[in-house]
Amino acid sequence: MASEVDFPRHLLELEALTREQIELLLDLAARFKHERAKARKGSAPPERRELLRGRTIITLFFEHSTRTRSSFEVAARSLGADVLSFQKDASSVAKGESLEDTVRNLDAIGADALVVRHPAAGAPRLVARAVRASVINAGDGAHEHPTQGLLDALSLRERWGTLENKTVAIVGDIAHSRVARSNIHCLSKLGARVRVGGPRTLIPEGIEKLGCTVARDLREALTGADAVMALRIQNERIADARLPGARDYSRTWGLDARSLEMLPRDALVMHPGPVNRGVEMSSDVLESPRSLVMDQVDSGVAVRMAALCLCLRAEVKR
Ligand code: CP
Repeated sequence: MASEVDFPRHLLELEALTREQIELLLDLAARFKHERAKARKGSAPPERRELLRGRTIITLFFEHSTRTRSSFEVAARSLGADVLSFQKDASSVAKGESLEDTVRNLDAIGADALVVRHPAAGAPRLVARAVRASVINAGDGAHEHPTQGLLDALSLRERWGTLENKTVAIVGDIAHSRVARSNIHCLSKLGARVRVGGPRTLIPEGIEKLGCTVARDLREALTGADAVMALRIQNERIADARLPGARDYSRTWGLDARSLEMLPRDALVMHPGPVNRGVEMSSDVLESPRSLVMDQVDSGVAVRMAALCLCLRAEVKR
């Protein structure tokens, strides 16, 4: 796939990408997603294992993950790469080796790409400065989770054709959410309006500067929205008394059959996972026909295939 659009060698944040770069990645991801769907129905997809054959991808997760790590590893294997899953607790990090020394050694071992999740905002950028390999941010502190923003945009674009003039509400713990930041950048670059809402103590001052508006309550957030994305309270990042109780939270900001009546009938419901059923979202909403949650996970594999191909300059011919 020849393109006039340059794509960076590292994928660190969506704030730094142009609309054209985001669309280049989404177009490629849409092809991969379509091929995966056809393969599931039994038709033979184009052979993609040549794209990254002989390349080595190392996933380094310094925080827990189910979806992101698994889907990066499935994506890399489906492109023919060799995948190494770095285990922090079984590594020399446990003996005090620094992040920089760790990644320099993995680079010397022969990594072509490092997929990094870390609790410290900016850690993937520090890694990118230290190594020759491409670096993909799989979530850094409360900063960004670029492939999550991209997979959310892919699922929405497939449903709507375009995000232009659509309104997406993001509700929950905005202050500690890297997903919120990546989505605000991505959705607004693609032409959508973004509204955020949540308990007052979990809305950072000045968030509007990123290109969103702030809703004071759930009704204001949901009224007229084309989609709502619920976010988990990031307990692991909250050290003070700002944390609302789960029952309080679900009563004021949780999505259930009753609160969804505030949304237009055809509006979509999203969540990046993991979901605390009954807190951010009830089970019936999560499993309703308007829920995109499992489609978001499916989009994740395709988006990560596309990210690896673009960062590693694999040429997708057809
Ligand atoms: N959405 C997301 O990042 O999920 P994991 O933490 O399970 O990777």
